[in-house]
Amino acid sequence: MKVHFVKSDPLKIKTDCLIIGVLENQKLSRVARTIDQALKGIISSTIKKKDFQGKLKELFSTYTLGAIEAKSVIFVGLGKKEDLTLEKLRQASGIATKGAKKLKAKKISSLLADTSIKGSDADSVAQASAEGSILSIYEFNEHKTDKEKGKKVEDISFLSHSETPDKGIAQGLKRAKSVCDAVYLARDLITQPGNTATPTFLANEAKKIAAKSTLQCKILNLKDMEKLGMGALIGVTKGSAEPPKFIILEHKGGKKGSAPVVLVGKGLTFDSGGISIKPGQGMEEMKTDMSGGAAVIAAMKAVSALKLKLNVVGLVPASENLPDGKANKPGDVLTAMSGQTIEVINTDAEGRLILADALCYAEKFKPRLVIDIATLTGACVVALGHHASGLMGTDQKLMDSLVVAGEVTGERVWPLPLFEEYDEQIKSDVADMKNIGGRAGGSITAAAMLKKFTGKYPWAHVDIAGTAWTDKAKPYIPKGAAGVGVRLFVQLLRDLGS
Ligand code: BES
Ligand code: MN
Ligand code: ZN
Repeated sequence: MKVHFVKSDPLKIKTDCLIIGVLENQKLSRVARTIDQALKGIISSTIKKKDFQGKLKELFSTYTLGAIEAKSVIFVGLGKKEDLTLEKLRQASGIATKGAKKLKAKKISSLLADTSIKGSDADSVAQASAEGSILSIYEFNEHKTDKEKGKKVEDISFLSHSETPDKGIAQGLKRAKSVCDAVYLARDLITQPGNTATPTFLANEAKKIAAKSTLQCKILNLKDMEKLGMGALIGVTKGSAEPPKFIILEHKGGKKGSAPVVLVGKGLTFDSGGISIKPGQGMEEMKTDMSGGAAVIAAMKAVSALKLKLNVVGLVPASENLPDGKANKPGDVLTAMSGQTIEVINTDAEGRLILADALCYAEKFKPRLVIDIATLTGACVVALGHHASGLMGTDQKLMDSLVVAGEVTGERVWPLPLFEEYDEQIKSDVADMKNIGGRAGGSITAAAMLKKFTGKYPWAHVDIAGTAWTDKAKPYIPKGAAGVGVRLFVQLLRDLGS
C-alpha cells in the first residue's frame, strides 16, 4: 500500500473516495463547502434535516456521479470542535477509511491531515490522522489461499489544500508512515501462528530487520544462556522442542557511551501453561504471548527509521511454554542469572521467569532506564479490562512520562501500586521467592517478583494482557492483534529526547 502526501485541489483529485471531516454545530469548512456546492448541496441539506450532524465517528457517504473527480465522498463527523483530540481524530479517521474500504475504494484520499486541534501542532495532527487511516485497514492474509485480490486498498493520499506552508504536515505524515509500518510488523508477528512464529522465527525476523536498517542484532542461543546462568529462562524452555533465543537489537543514535534506554519484551511464542496446563478453551489465543516481544522488535525498527538521537537497546527473551517429560514442574527451584532462587509453584507463571533473566541482563548496558512490556497476567484483564495497560514500576518520573505518552498515542497505561507489603505474598519456604502470590493483586505480585531482578536503574513495567489482542474491532484496531506498545514507546523515546 502506498501512502503519500499531495498538494492538490480536492475537486480535481482523481480518487475512488475522498474523506472530509465535519465538525458538529459548526459551519462547513471552506473545502467542505466547495465540495458541497459541486454536489448540489447534498451535505448541507442533510445537515439541515439533521440526518447527519457531524457527531464524532458519524458517517455520510455518497457517490458523486461525475460532479467532481472523486468517485465517492465520505463525510465523517469529528464531534464538537472544543472536544476534539488527537485520539478522536485517529478514531474518526479510522472509521472513515474503513467506510471507504467498504465502498471497495482502492485509492483513498483524505482531507483530515490539516484539521485544527486546540493545543496540538500540525505535525502531530497529520500524524494522528494518517495513523488512524493506515492502522484501521490492516489485514493478515498470509495463510489464506484465497487472497481476496482486488479488494485491497492500494493507495492512501493525504491532501493539503491550505495556502499556509505545510512542512509540519509532511513531517507528521512521514513519521506516521514509519510508525505504522512498525505497528503492522508487530501485528504480523503476533497474528502469525505458533507453529510458524517460533523463537527461531522471531530471531530470524529481528536479524532481517537489522540487515535492512541501521540496527545491530545479536542472538544468544541456549549455550550462551547456560554460560550466563539464565536458569529461570532455561527452566521455562525445558519442556519445549523449539530452542530458545534471546534477541538483542541495538540502535546507536545517541552520543557514544551515553546510557541507553533498554526495552524488554516478553517473547513467549506459545503459552500452554506447561505442566500447570491451561484449559483448552481459548488456548489458541496464547500464540499472542509474544506481543511484548513483538512490540519491542517493532519499536526498534521505528526508532531506527526515525533516526532518533538516542541509544536504545531492545531485549526479547523468546521461548515456548509446553508440558513434557523434561519440563519444569511445580515445586522445582530455579537459579536465575542474578543468583537468586525461585520456587516454581505454577509453571503457567512463566513470563516473570523469562523476564527475570532479561531484566538482569539489561544491567550489562548500564541503562538510563528500563521498561518491560508483557502479556503477563490475566489479573490485569480483570483489573483494567481492554482499554488500558497496567503500569507499575520503581520510578515515578518514568511512570508519569509513560502516562503522558499513553494519552498522546491513545495507548493508555494506568498505574497500579507496588507497595512493599505485596512482597510478603511471594515469600517461599524453600527458595528466595516463589513465582506466584495468590489471586489477590495478581498483576502486582507478578511485578513485585520482577522488581527483585531490576538493577540500579529506573524501571517501569507495562502489562498488556488486556490490550494486546482484541475480540472486537475498535475504530483503528481490527479484530485481533493491536500492536500495542509500539506507538507508546516511540512517543516516549521522542519525548525523552537525546
Ligand atoms: N500469558 C499469561 C497471561 C495472559 C492471560 C495473557 C490472558 C493474556 C491473556 C501468563 O503467562 C499466565 O498464564 N499468567 C497466569 C499467572 C497465574 C498462574 C499466577 C494467569 O494470569 O492466569
Ligand atoms: Mn502463562
Ligand atoms: Zn504467558
